[in-house]
Amino acid sequence: MKVTRIELEHFRNIERLEMEPGDTVNIIYGDNAQGKTNLMEALWMFTGAKSFRSARETELIQLEQPVARMVLAFEREQREQQATIAYARGRKKQVTFNRVPLESSAQLAGRFYAVVFSPAHLSFIQDGPAVRRRFLDSAICQIMPRYLDYLTDYHRVLRQRNALLKDLRKNRSLMDLLEVFDQTMAGLSANLIKIRRQYIKRLSAHSEEIYNGISHGGERLTVEYRNGFGMELPQSSSEPITPLLLEKIKKSRQEDIFYQSSQVGPHRDDIAVFLNGLEAKSFGSQGQQRSCVLSLKLSESIMIEESTGQSPVILLDDVMSELDSSRRDYLLNSLEGRQVFITCCEPAYFQGMNRGRLFKMEKGHAAERQFLGDGTAGPGLRSQPDDSWDGAALEEAFAQNGPLMSQKDEGPWQEE
Ligand SMILES: Nc1ncnc2c1ncn2[C@@H]1O[C@H](COP(=O)(O)OP(=O)(O)O)[C@@H](O)[C@H]1O
Ligand SMILES: [Mg+2]
Repeated sequence: MKVTRIELEHFRNIERLEMEPGDTVNIIYGDNAQGKTNLMEALWMFTGAKSFRSARETELIQLEQPVARMVLAFEREQREQQATIAYARGRKKQVTFNRVPLESSAQLAGRFYAVVFSPAHLSFIQDGPAVRRRFLDSAICQIMPRYLDYLTDYHRVLRQRNALLKDLRKNRSLMDLLEVFDQTMAGLSANLIKIRRQYIKRLSAHSEEIYNGISHGGERLTVEYRNGFGMELPQSSSEPITPLLLEKIKKSRQEDIFYQSSQVGPHRDDIAVFLNGLEAKSFGSQGQQRSCVLSLKLSESIMIEESTGQSPVILLDDVMSELDSSRRDYLLNSLEGRQVFITCCEPAYFQGMNRGRLFKMEKGHAAERQFLGDGTAGPGLRSQPDDSWDGAALEEAFAQNGPLMSQKDEGPWQEE
């Protein structure tokens, strides 16, 4: 999977940008607050997931602008694909894939794959369980888009059950209804548990191997799934677990009514990472914890490859300076053959590199461009102002990307 072109208009501090990245390593460097992460975020949004910055969507639109537009052209199995997203203030965003409108950006999942690694991930081991659940959910969604439906169903039922728990205090006759919710919740939970458990099992095997490579056969890394029911469950996938979960949910009822919220369920799931059987959270050094995260992230990309046959685009946002040289080298070597975007303040790390492209980001605009090694000339980031990039030319460029992107044919925006 290779991005061949990205166009942005009024996305965060990026007024207008047009970039044709190379097939290998693309380095985007520049001072702080210039828009490097914004560019990575824009690429990430095409996976159909929420922003890795967990921002509200209107924050993606450039201040004082009504609409942000993005076009991504990428190659998948030697075929050109194109996706567009347009965010508008107070209106539903519009998304297309190969010129066909989609209901939501979530429907982009399974079409464009990416893995992002940013400094926020470095505290992954120390963070609260919600961060690890988000990692799990977003990783699984990419390789199994219907997982998002399961997740949404579960969270809807959870919300309804919690509302019911509040009402129960006043109205005991609602107990019958609780029975119905408990059963639904048990079934949906079993589904999520099976998928998450399976994912982590495979993730653990890959992570162990990668960690072994990073630490030169140091400790043994294992990843364990901790279900939010706090119970041992049969490992065999043929054994039904729904009745066991239902029993546990029922046992929890008194407590649930007391707290007015559901105390057990996949919304309490977690992942535990171990080094030689000791939990990395409590026993791992900072360096070991970073190696763990790096292993998990690289495994995430291998899992996408294994499941889809496509190598995801790798987004390394500002992590180079956070890693020591041996981890940096390991990372770069293991990404051979994939398209990688790397942002950094200091391009010196890459001086010895003989392939790839180098872009400079300045105030949301592209400044000068230089090419490393392969000398593959390309437009790179085009600087602004650029005569060919305003007025009619702009309209035409956007018009080529379907009616959505044309200025005069925005169509009726659906209300949110
Ligand atoms: N919606 C927005 N409109 C305009 N500017 C924005 C918006 N969102 C973020 N910014 C600006 O983008 C800049 C940060 O860009 P970022 O990509 O994080 O920088 P860096 O190059 O350090 O990665 C900040 O100056 C911030 O104010
Ligand atoms: Mg940044």
